[in-house]
Amino acid sequence: MTATPAGINYADYLKLDQLLSAQQPLSDLHDEMLFIVIHQTKELWMKEMLYDLRLAVSLVEADRFAEAYKAMARISRIQAVMTLSWDVLSTLTPVDYLKFRDVLGTSSGFQSEQFREIEFRLGLKEPNFVNQYPDGSAERKALEQALAEPSLREAALGALEGAGFDVGDKSTEALAGAWLQVYRDPDRWFELYELAEKLLDIDDAMVAWRQKHVLTVERIIGLKRGTGGSAGAPYLRATLEKRLFPELWALRTEL
Ligand code: HEM
Repeated sequence: MTATPAGINYADYLKLDQLLSAQQPLSDLHDEMLFIVIHQTKELWMKEMLYDLRLAVSLVEADRFAEAYKAMARISRIQAVMTLSWDVLSTLTPVDYLKFRDVLGTSSGFQSEQFREIEFRLGLKEPNFVNQYPDGSAERKALEQALAEPSLREAALGALEGAGFDVGDKSTEALAGAWLQVYRDPDRWFELYELAEKLLDIDDAMVAWRQKHVLTVERIIGLKRGTGGSAGAPYLRATLEKRLFPELWALRTEL
């Protein structure tokens, strides 16, 4: 523990000077502040998510399931808050957004390192995304590290194997078959059963966040191209198919 500085107060402890001076609109238009604040709060929540995600992975790896569920439940609640916050951004009308959209240049949420790191650490490891960051940059290093370290998905598969289940070639079919045995006898495999449902909570919330993002984007810019250079809403719609644990969705048909 670090010693508490004498006379510390609320603003000192939270470094509010730094935090509250980091909102610097580039235009003089009223709604740019909301745009900045929404992005910054989401980046802060993502920071906390990554923090809890690392803990969850290490707890699953150590077979400390009850503690892992607690960390994963927090992640799910953060995801719910992040999804809900799109409703605040929806108060930004297309007319008001278009007035300052130019100041964003080519910057886009697509460049959020933390978002990609969350995907990687959950288990959606798509190495190509690393290439958008320059060699040696902090973002690239963080993503390379996330690629190299075990994800929540890998830790969960380790737990399944550790309990003696045959995961075969780790294809969706093979994994669905292994999880199916867990779901057919939840009393016997309660820890794994509970783990799987917690994983699905996170996967479900990830899709919900993506859905609300694309809906908000369609509401604000319609089918215009993104500032990051993609086709915009059609690109985002395609990401709705991504699943962290396709086998856990697949097994439901077989039950
Ligand atoms: C007016 C509000 C917003 C609009 C119009 C918008 C639009 C877009 C578009 C068009 C893309 C696709 C990439 C591109 O071409 O730029 C994108 C990607 C993305 N945006 Fe937003 N966005 C908005 C707000 C936000 C906010 C508040 C966040 C929170 C951090 C965010 C996070 C992301 C992320 C993480 C991606 C990458 C998604 C992926 O590749 O799966 N966006 N956004």
